[in-house]
Amino acid sequence: MPKTKATTKTTALTTTTKHGEEPEIASKFGLAIAFLLSFLPFYVQFVIRLLLTHFPPRYRPSTGTCTLVGAGPGDPSLLTIGAHEAIRNADIVISDLLVPERIQALVRGKLLKLPRTTRRKSDDAQCDAYVWMRDYIRLGLRVVRLKGGDPFVFGRGGEEVLYLRSEGIPAARIKVIPGISSCIAAGESALIPVTHRGVADQFLVVTGRGEGGRVPDIPSFSARRTVVVMMGMSRLHMLVTSFLNDAHYPRHTPCAIVEKATWADQRVVRGTLETIEKLVEMQGIKNPAVVYVGHVVNILANGGNKCMVNTPDEGVEV
Ligand SMILES: C[S@@+](CC[C@H](N)C(=O)[O-])C[C@H]1O[C@@H](n2cnc3c(N)ncnc32)[C@H](O)[C@@H]1O
Repeated sequence: MPKTKATTKTTALTTTTKHGEEPEIASKFGLAIAFLLSFLPFYVQFVIRLLLTHFPPRYRPSTGTCTLVGAGPGDPSLLTIGAHEAIRNADIVISDLLVPERIQALVRGKLLKLPRTTRRKSDDAQCDAYVWMRDYIRLGLRVVRLKGGDPFVFGRGGEEVLYLRSEGIPAARIKVIPGISSCIAAGESALIPVTHRGVADQFLVVTGRGEGGRVPDIPSFSARRTVVVMMGMSRLHMLVTSFLNDAHYPRHTPCAIVEKATWADQRVVRGTLETIEKLVEMQGIKNPAVVYVGHVVNILANGGNKCMVNTPDEGVEV
């Protein structure tokens, strides 16, 4: 459809149409500024960033966008087409360290990696990500915030959206591309389904790193529930104790841990709540890893041709 004069004028003035269609020229201009900025001494960069931050909105470049992209559990073949395109077309990609090199290698623009964090430092890294996103968006760039798994599953994606909104970035310039979350994919890559008819009719995903360093409240034992714990490795002992003593899980409840799921060096250990700590210690299993607790752990293991029978105390036996 031919454009009217008025439409053309509006487009030229605001240099944007809808999300993801900002003109190349604005983005190249912003990229050039970002590139030049990186040569300046730190304090000059700081002043320029400060000015950009405090300029009245109408003087700021208004074409930048931010896309939170889920990178999946690690294998690049598990990226969605949308994620792949966003990564390839971004001017700036701000990546979590957990995203493997093979995915980071897809970046054609500038790649900024957040540092490896301890629990104490992870808030600092998050602040860096906030400031980078905000400043590069204001420079008119297409920013991708690349996150492991799915941005909204223990990925702090919601916080980032709220931050950008609080900084005046219009909602239409913020987009989320879902990723395959490791909470399901890690199990799948070890042939552990989170649900299975007759064995588990529900699954619960919890963090092992709750507020104030506590382990999360695990609901009382239910034989037909799979519990998936992310970020649980550093508190495995507390976690197992909580399953056994607080939630009253039988000691022989199957438990598996999948380390570096879908990576070339993926490892899996299977045991029970009673044996899992010893197995982890023997094998030296570390983060990133997902813990699975429930009868689904063994349902497809060793050929996976076992029959299930209902038992009065636990519901199922495999
Ligand atoms: C901060 S959370 C991020 C979760 C991510 N948003 C997701 O949806 O998968 C990090 C935790 O995800 C899990 N994780 C992420 N990628 C993993 C992988 N490839 N293999 C095993 N666990 C993984 C681990 O439990 C790790 O401690």
